Amino acid sequence: MITIRPTSLDEDAALLGPMGIAFGIGAVPERVARLQSLAEFQMRLGAFDGDALVGSAGSWSFATTTPGGVAVETEGLTIVAVLPTHRRRGILRELMRAHLDETRARGKSVASLFASEGSIYGRFGYGVASFGGSIALDRDRSQFSGAPGAAATARFRLVDLDEAAREFAPIYERVRLATPGLLSRSPSWWRSRRLSDPDWARAGRPAQLRVLCTLDGRPAGYAAYRVGTHVVDDVLAGSLDVVEALGDSPAATRAIWRYLCDTDLVRTIRASLLPIDHPLLHLVVEPGRLGMRLNDAVWIRLVDVAAALSQRGWEAEGPPLVIGVRDAFCPWNEGSYRLADGKAARTGEAPDLTLDVDALGATYLGGVGFTRLADAGRAVERTPGALLRADALFRSARAPWCPEVF
Ligand SMILES: CC(C)(COP(=O)(O)OP(=O)(O)OC[C@H]1O[C@@H](n2cnc3c(N)ncnc32)[C@H](O)[C@@H]1OP(=O)(O)O)[C@@H](O)C(=O)NCCC(=O)NCCS
Repeated sequence: MITIRPTSLDEDAALLGPMGIAFGIGAVPERVARLQSLAEFQMRLGAFDGDALVGSAGSWSFATTTPGGVAVETEGLTIVAVLPTHRRRGILRELMRAHLDETRARGKSVASLFASEGSIYGRFGYGVASFGGSIALDRDRSQFSGAPGAAATARFRLVDLDEAAREFAPIYERVRLATPGLLSRSPSWWRSRRLSDPDWARAGRPAQLRVLCTLDGRPAGYAAYRVGTHVVDDVLAGSLDVVEALGDSPAATRAIWRYLCDTDLVRTIRASLLPIDHPLLHLVVEPGRLGMRLNDAVWIRLVDVAAALSQRGWEAEGPPLVIGVRDAFCPWNEGSYRLADGKAARTGEAPDLTLDVDALGATYLGGVGFTRLADAGRAVERTPGALLRADALFRSARAPWCPEVF
């Protein structure tokens, strides 16, 4: 018989075991130390066959920015794995049950995740709330349009881990609440995850470089990136892989990307997990040369629909709207909700539109619209005009963005 229970810190090596086997990753002592250094890692769940840990799940406690600049407490699901010897016996399902029940018991209204395989999580009520764009841009096709303006006065300084952790965090904080999807980060998250680059985790990649961009002497942008050199047809054809780059103003955004695109010996600049409306699409004179490809990024699960909608921010106002929700996996959410003045409450009124909870989760960060969900048969309009009203209410001017897999 399989039992699911919270695990203790002493069991962290065992808890990381199924992930290590599924993804072929070693260095368990280092991974345990890193996990334990992260303030966000606050939920540990193990599936046991007798005394043996055969399945794992955990979650990060962080806040996710929603439209309107409001950050909502979120349980970010991670380290989900089941040993190959125990697959397809319902262990993942039990872990999902325990994770959502525990999230609810902790008073959190939203869970999120990155999916290794998109076909797994819809059945548990998660919907794709943001997409990530990957680019591969040839340096000699990276010309920007318009005049550089204030970006021309930018200065750059390569910094070590300590200085990067100190200087990058305030810049990120200025961008965070203006950008749906961005996560809160503790100092330990910056040091042990985002900027961490130990030999054991590098897997043969070049070392991470970190650059600080100042405008008028003020820190305004940064990039973490890697440069590798290759010889192709007797010519140096390096590649630059962006880990994360952002600026706190249009000038800083332009300056940091110009810096990356001007790196000598580099032929191709690569980045992934960019927002799908990244300013780069409008900076470069040939957007098609970015070769942007899409992938699903953050999936959102509304664990408590009324609380999640009431905690969310809004960029727009509108007349009350009644949303009917179906939720087979968390039946406490089933019913109709009246959304008025940015707050949601249960109602007996007939819904203006109906949808499953995974589709509603997809709209949560403002990047997926109700009309398009309806076009795909994932939402149904009951009152004429309701889809357009919902689109206007839920939308975000900026596409949601999460620059890191958690
Ligand atoms: C993915 C994984 C966790 C599934 O665990 P499991 O215990 O075999 O899953 P369950 O038996 O509980 O299956 C639950 C449901 O998910 C479905 N499912 C499970 N794995 C799936 C997969 N890889 N793709 C599509 N559906 C999947 C099952 O068919 C089942 O569907 P149903 O309940 O509608 O009949 C496990 O195979 C694994 O560890 N894989 C490698 C690591 C991994 O991908 N982790 C996810 C990280 S995000």
